[in-house]
Amino acid sequence: MKKTFLSIAVLLGSLSLFAQTNQEIINKGKELTIKNGCTACHTNSGSIAPDFTVITVKYKKLKELNARFEISNVIKKGSKYLGKAPIMPAYTQISESEIRAISTYILSLSK
Ligand code: HEC
Repeated sequence: MKKTFLSIAVLLGSLSLFAQTNQEIINKGKELTIKNGCTACHTNSGSIAPDFTVITVKYKKLKELNARFEISNVIKKGSKYLGKAPIMPAYTQISESEIRAISTYILSLSK
C-alpha cells in the first residue's frame, strides 16, 4: 500500500515536471539571468554587452538547435568563445537544464 502511494507521488511529481509550460521555463530563464548577474553587463544601454533583445535578433537567424548550441557554448566558455575579449566569464556552475531555460528565455525575446 505504501509503495503504491509512493509510486503515485513519484508519478505526479514527474507529470508536473512535464507540465511545466513554456512560459514557466521562460520566466525561470529570466530569473536565472538576474540571479547569475548576467544583466549587470547585458543592459539596455549595451555599453558593456548587448541587451538580450539584441542577442535574440542575431540568434533568431539560426536554426533553433544551432542557436541553443551557440548560446550554451557562450555561457559555458564565456565571451572568448566568440573570439572576443574574455569580459564575460565562463559559467561552469550553471546546469544543462538551467542553460536550456536561459536559451529559451533569450530566444523568446524580440524587439
Ligand atoms: C562581465 C560582463 C558579462 C556578464 C556578467 C555576462 N556577459 Fe554575456 N557577454 C559579455 C560580453 C562582453 C559579450 C560579447 C559581446 C560582443 O562583443 O558581441 C557577451 C556575449 C554573450 C552572448 C553572445 C552574444 C552574441 O552576440 O553572440 C550571450 C548569449 C551571453 N553573453 C549570455 C550571457 C549570459 C546568459 C550571462 C549570465 C549567465 C552572461 N552573458 C553574463 C559580457 C558579460
